[in-house]
Parts: sequence; structure tokens; C-alpha cells
Amino acid sequence: GRGIASLAALSETHQMLQKTCRDFANAELAPHARRHDREELHPAEQVRRLGELGLMSVAVREEYGGAGLDYLAYAIGMEEVARGDGAVSIVMGVNNLYLGAVQQHGTEAQKQQFLVPYTQGHHIAFYALSEPGSGSDASAASTTAKFNANGDYLLSGTKAWISNSKEASGGLIFATIDKSLKHKGITAFLTEKDVPGLSVGKKESKLGMRASSTCQLTLDDVCVPQSHVLGTPGGGFKIAMESLDCGRIGIAAQSTGIAQAALELAVDYAEKRVAFGQRLSRLQMIQQKLADMALRVETARLLTWRAAWLKDHGLPITKEAAMAKLHASETATYCAHQCIQILGGMGYTTDLPAELYYRNARVTEIYEGTSEIQRIVIANCVMQSIYN
Ligand code: CAA
Repeated sequence: GRGIASLAALSETHQMLQKTCRDFANAELAPHARRHDREELHPAEQVRRLGELGLMSVAVREEYGGAGLDYLAYAIGMEEVARGDGAVSIVMGVNNLYLGAVQQHGTEAQKQQFLVPYTQGHHIAFYALSEPGSGSDASAASTTAKFNANGDYLLSGTKAWISNSKEASGGLIFATIDKSLKHKGITAFLTEKDVPGLSVGKKESKLGMRASSTCQLTLDDVCVPQSHVLGTPGGGFKIAMESLDCGRIGIAAQSTGIAQAALELAVDYAEKRVAFGQRLSRLQMIQQKLADMALRVETARLLTWRAAWLKDHGLPITKEAAMAKLHASETATYCAHQCIQILGGMGYTTDLPAELYYRNARVTEIYEGTSEIQRIVIANCVMQSIYN
């Protein structure tokens, strides 16, 4: 049994959610993960089921069709989904990231058009911030938004590495109304995808998370009315930073789920495989690896739950979410690496999912802010708290 102590700390609702999601992941996600990865197939049926379970809109209020739960529930659900299939969890993560921004900053009309349809898995959303020339340096975005004669905005530029964009029905696009204003020019625009001038470019061929689509978006005078600006003109960078703070709780939970899956596979194998006349699990060199993996998984989960708990209590999370994301993603890559090491040749083949965990884990140190960016965010928070 995993984490009896930590389970006891969860409310009954959260425990039930955890069990439902774990059973769902075992029965309906894990068995299909390797085929979807191999064939780079969008997991449409799995996403439909996520919608039924409320996992596409965990923290969205019920009046808008959301599950009406909190960020702790989001973290718990995300971990279990990722434990079953990392690629499915990124479809879920990006949709929830988008909905968090719309729920927080949207007008009532925007919520009806851009929140409600995306809550139940029927439609999924993208979140377009990065560009070919700006990833970590998000405020350097050069997609432009200019007024036309009717007072609408025309958006032009290219967005890169946009998750969900192939299947999405719409999403959020960050563009600048005046590049000389730097981050104070960045504005967030809501749009449907099927509009003139917006086209989905080539689908990236990736190391991992291959069942989740990642494409370029090209914008050629995409017309967006002023009423579809999320928040205020020039207020987009703050919306991006705040929504990414929440998104990082999701990636931390996703990473914890991948790490947990790698740990479970390693334990299972070590209990069965015989070497030097005994089970692998009797060898202290193997025990040390299992102990280090378990320690990191549990600290990752605790940091993730702490960040979620703070969010649910309206407290600042920038540092805590960055710490959770940094530690959990490094835990995922560490555990997937050690899992292969324990399995040896069996870990290197596609007969077992160790190699899939290894490939899927890698991107968690890159998207929604690289490990280097998380360290910058943490250092800035630490310095502010000491010197201010
Ligand atoms: N919350 C609220 N406001 C914030 C903030 C936060 N967490 N972080 C910064 N800000 C505000 C600052 O207070 C400042 O406001 P003022 O104008 O009022 O002074 C403003 O934003 C600018 O702040 P900085 O000068 O610190 O900004 P910067 O340009 O130096 O950037 C950064 C800071 C942390 C490096 C930021 O650019 C960053 O997080 N980069 C990483 C981007 C990222 O995570 N991209 C992921 C892409 S999305 C994705 O991956 C989704 C997917 O598909 C999976």
C-alpha cells in the first residue's frame, strides 16, 4: 500500500476521487498508453471519459459545467491520470490551465462562450504563449495585435510547441499590442480555432508524450473583437504568469504520477527477478535505489499538495508551485532513469513501459517553465522575502 499516512490526511471526497481516478487509470489508460504512443494517436475515447469524470475542468465551478472541486483535487486526479498515461495527462493539464485563466479573468459572456463548452471533454483548448523566437523569455513574444478600421484586433505571427492544438476547438493566444512596452504590451486573446487566418502547422515528432499533439499555430490577420480580450489590453503577461503558477501545480502532479509509476514497476520487477541466487529486492544496491526513489516521490507529492492547499486557501503560490514543479519533474526523470537501471535490458526494450516513462518524463523539466526558470523564480522569491 502506498502512503497510508498521506492518505489519512485527505478528506473523504479527495480519497474517493483518488480511488476513482486510480481505478480508471488502471483499467482505461495504462492498457492503451503504449499503442497510443507508438501510433501517435490522440486518445479521443480517454479524453471523453476524463470529461465524464470531471477531470477536464476540476476546479471550474459547477454552474459553468465544471467539477466544482479544488486544486488539491486537481493535483490528486492529475497524478493518477499521469500514472496511467502521461500523454493523456497533458491533454487534461493544458485544458485545465486554459480554463483556470478564463474562470479567473473572463467576463460572463466570455465564460459562456469560452469556458462552458470546454468543461466536459467535448471540446479541448490550447494555450499559446511560446513562439519560435521566445520560450523561456515569454515577455519577448512578437505575435502582434493591431487595430483594424472596425476597431477589432488583427493578430499575426507564429506560436510554437502548442499542446492540444491539432484537436482543439479554441484557446488563448498571447500577442503584443506594442512591442516597445515589453511585458506591458502582452495581451491575452480568446478565439475559436476555426476562424479565417488561423492555421495549424506541422505536428512535431517528439521524444515522448507522443499521443498528445504539439503543433505550430500560424496567425495571418486573425480577427478578434475587443470583447474577446481576456482581462485588459496589456494585462496579458500577468494573466500568463498567474495561470502558469497554477499550471505548475498540475505539471508537478503529473511528474509525481510518472515517478510513482516508475517506482511501482521497479519494485514489482525487483521482487520477481532473481540474480546472484536471490531476488533483486534483497540486494542492498537495489534497495538504495528504491529508497531514494520513494523518498523523492513522497517529497514531490507533499510539495505539490502544499502548493495546491495554499492555492485553495487564497495564499501566494509562486514560490511553492515552482518548488513543487522543479522537484517533481526532476523526480520523474530520476525515477524513470533508475527504473530502467533496475530492469536492465528489460527496461531498455518496449516490452515493459519503463522506456515510455523515461521518454514521457523528460519534457516535464521543459514545459510550463524549464527547471532553470523554476530556479530563477524560487531565487527571486527567496531574495524578496529576505531583503524586503
Ligand atoms: N504572478 C503574478 N505576476 C508576476 C509573476 C507571477 N508569478 N511573475 C512575474 N509577474 C509580474 C511581475 O510582478 C512584473 O509586474 P510589474 O510589471 O507590475 O512590475 C511583471 O510580471 C514582469 O516580471 P519580470 O520582470 O519578473 O518578468 P520577466 O520578463 O523577467 O520574466 C520569468 C519572468 C519568470 C522568466 C517568466 O518569463 C517565465 O515564467 N518564463 C517561463 C515561461 C513559461 O513557463 N512558458 C511555458 C509556456 S506554456 C506551456 O508550456 C503550456 C503547454 O503547452 C504545456
